[in-house]
Amino acid sequence: MKIAISGKGGVGKTTLAGTLARVIAATEHKVLAIDADPDANLGSALGFHLDEVEKVTPIAEMTDLIQERTGSQKGSYGGTFKLNPKVDDIPERFSLTRENLKLLVLGTIPEGGGGCYCPEGVILKFLLRHILLQRDESIILDMEAGLEHLGRGSTKGIDAFIVVVEPGSRSLKTARQIKKLATDLGINQVYVVGNKISEASDIEFINDNLDGIKILGFLDYDQEIVTADRHDQAPFEVNQKLVENVKTIYENLKKELVTN
Ligand SMILES: Nc1ncnc2c1ncn2[C@@H]1O[C@H](COP(=O)(O)OP(=O)(O)O)[C@@H](O)[C@H]1O
Ligand SMILES: [Mg+2]
Repeated sequence: MKIAISGKGGVGKTTLAGTLARVIAATEHKVLAIDADPDANLGSALGFHLDEVEKVTPIAEMTDLIQERTGSQKGSYGGTFKLNPKVDDIPERFSLTRENLKLLVLGTIPEGGGGCYCPEGVILKFLLRHILLQRDESIILDMEAGLEHLGRGSTKGIDAFIVVVEPGSRSLKTARQIKKLATDLGINQVYVVGNKISEASDIEFINDNLDGIKILGFLDYDQEIVTADRHDQAPFEVNQKLVENVKTIYENLKKELVTN
């Protein structure tokens, strides 16, 4: 299963991505978790130690590798370079690995690089495309709200796109925009997970504002999850209720994909 997770900043994308990756890894499936948010913090949400995570260089910052693979010169915007760089060894070489869980940190495409052909953008796009189309483990992609890293070529590999929302207008507005972007990229399986639920009216509010996007389930607001973040701990390790709810969401998603 290859799942991309997006949503407004702070809604709980990384919390869901980290927990879902751990839930799938616990069933003995290999999981490759990809941190594609410029504000990268998936590592600690997966339960990797902070000192390990801090040593990771995001792929976008591996200047020598990018130059070697694309044939580009440093800072050469608009210069000539290969548009089909070799990337297939990158996940094995540069992932943090623990048992059947791997973490790959992509990093940030330089300003204005999302749409343009800068070497970093080409590498990241190619790498994602390779991972989504060629690798056979489960993939969890923790993304930002914009879908810059995804090109038309890579979206075929995505089985499901989950947009995380909280019970507030802004995150639901973002969800509707993401749904549109995803649809434009040819992704049809777009779902919502409602996070930070404190009371019944939160669920009602989300249900009333989905604009036809299907909901996979809800996650309760819990102070333990905040505390886990403060201590750079995986929410999977501290909050059993969250784990149970994420399992249910994963089961619901599998049912959805079978019937669609
Ligand atoms: N269900 C929840 N209950 C309480 N706090 C949560 C919950 N989900 C996320 N948080 C907290 O909200 C903050 C943002 O979550 P995070 O997963 O990093 O969001 P995002 O990746 O979307 O920016 C973190 O401090 C996290 O611990
Ligand atoms: Mg995040």
